[in-house]
Amino acid sequence: MKYAVRYYTKTGNTQKLAKAIADELGVEALSIREPVNDYVDYLFLGNSYYAFNIDPEVKYFVRSLDKTKVGKIVNFGSAAMLNSTYKKVKAEADKVGIPMAEEEFHCKGEFKGIHKGKPDENDCMAAAEFAKKFKE
Ligand SMILES: Cc1cc2nc3c(=O)[nH]c(=O)nc-3n(C[C@H](O)[C@H](O)[C@H](O)COP(=O)(O)O)c2cc1C
Repeated sequence: MKYAVRYYTKTGNTQKLAKAIADELGVEALSIREPVNDYVDYLFLGNSYYAFNIDPEVKYFVRSLDKTKVGKIVNFGSAAMLNSTYKKVKAEADKVGIPMAEEEFHCKGEFKGIHKGKPDENDCMAAAEFAKKFKE
């Protein structure tokens, strides 16, 4: 199995999860500014909510993916109040014909003094455990 990890972050929270997942999979956690050039079975995509939506950059990234290079997108994120960006990411993935894995990972991320310190060490361990399920 081949993997890639890409993330979008404004305050570093999703990057923490991306690193934990990437370490587990033995790949590098890279920003969505880095294109996916070689085929991967699973593209782990970290993203979050900002004013009730995913960032336009994330939408653009998903829409610019080459469906011959990505088997499935695996969503993960750290939104503070809402739980899942899955539907927003899927709406973009559907436009380019890339399937989404049904499972996703989410934990709360620190935002304006709430969920202080999150994602924490336990969240990162849980993210790594989640990634392990995709290993052969
Ligand atoms: C400008 C801004 C707007 C946000 N809006 C929302 C929101 O609408 N819903 C929500 O659940 N979280 C919201 N959050 C919280 C972030 O999703 C949360 O802090 C997340 O962990 C940020 O991830 P990041 O550090 O990787 O950017 C917002 C955060 C910021 C900075």
